[in-house]
Amino acid sequence: MKAPIPVTGQISKDEAGRWLQELSARLPDERLIWLDDISEADCQAAEIAIVANPDPNEIAKLTNLKWVHSVWAGVERLVADLGDQPFEIVRLIDPELARTMAEAVLSWCLYLHRDMPAYARLQRDHKWAELPYSKPSQKTVGVLGLGALGIAAAQLLKQFGFHVQGWSRTQKDLPGIETFQGPRGLEQMIGQSDLLVCLLPLTEGTRHLLDFDLLKKACPGASLINFGRGPVVVTDDLVTLLDQGPLDHAVLDVFDQEPLPENSLLWDHPKITILPHISAPTDVLTASDIVASNIKQYRRTGQLPPVVDKKFGY
Ligand code: NDP
Ligand code: OXD
Repeated sequence: MKAPIPVTGQISKDEAGRWLQELSARLPDERLIWLDDISEADCQAAEIAIVANPDPNEIAKLTNLKWVHSVWAGVERLVADLGDQPFEIVRLIDPELARTMAEAVLSWCLYLHRDMPAYARLQRDHKWAELPYSKPSQKTVGVLGLGALGIAAAQLLKQFGFHVQGWSRTQKDLPGIETFQGPRGLEQMIGQSDLLVCLLPLTEGTRHLLDFDLLKKACPGASLINFGRGPVVVTDDLVTLLDQGPLDHAVLDVFDQEPLPENSLLWDHPKITILPHISAPTDVLTASDIVASNIKQYRRTGQLPPVVDKKFGY
């Protein structure tokens, strides 16, 4: 009998049922079992696991794994807690996820570009006032992270008419998009961007990257959108720079602690918009297609999909 494929994650029972149903429909020749329901023998036999933001301790029970397929794009907890284990980590790369993220980035860039936070304040104060209008082509958006999501976002922003720049670890050649690398490149890009969009993974190289010294180099009145991971930004520094300038507004979808604690001061900060980690939810249908296709290819050829580089952490 084929080794089972355990499925696990910190998700509701309903969500777990949905994943099992969609994955099983696409992998009729496999035994997909929720990890809590698996026998000791099956724990030893499993070579592949499918995980949705799992508790790393649960994965550690699967002692003979060859690879883990995450249905999340960000795998920082798996890398941090299980990166020294012999199995490979595969993260979700899904064009539908990239489209959803690009849509979210464009939406919130337009929210900032059309001064919606300022108009909301004017309404609250019963003030009828017109703020100066500028065209998208007069605004520069700097995208931090030009991976699967960052490239899709940068291209959609470009298509909409913004002037777009991007920063990544390795060099990129993207038509119509000015690209930067390295610490100097990052400083340069931050100093030229009206809107900064963070789509970086959380790694040793990006934790607390956006701190006081770097963000104080932003253009006066610039805004930050963080859709990557909370700890890439030093939250206290961000608040200081919103209070004292040069930053004008922040749209935050990701936080040091999630859910954001009820007593966090961020909730009521007038220059912060809070989103509950919803900028790009995984689509169960398209993600199941991708996971199933990767597993079928592995069973057929023994070839793994592209894996996370544990040295770089993404
Ligand atoms: P990728 O791995 O495809 O891209 C990561 C990008 O970041 C790459 O361009 C990479 O550079 C760059 N990068 C990584 N480390 C550094 C560094 N030290 N210095 C400079 N650049 C660096 O990831 P995705 O685009 O798929 O996803 C990005 C992140 O978005 C995820 O890790 C996750 O945290 C977050 N996310 C958030 C969601 C939400 O709903 N809020 C949903 C999905 C993902 P290079 O290209 O040179 O390798
Ligand atoms: C992800 C996320 O990493 O939802 O996929 O943040």
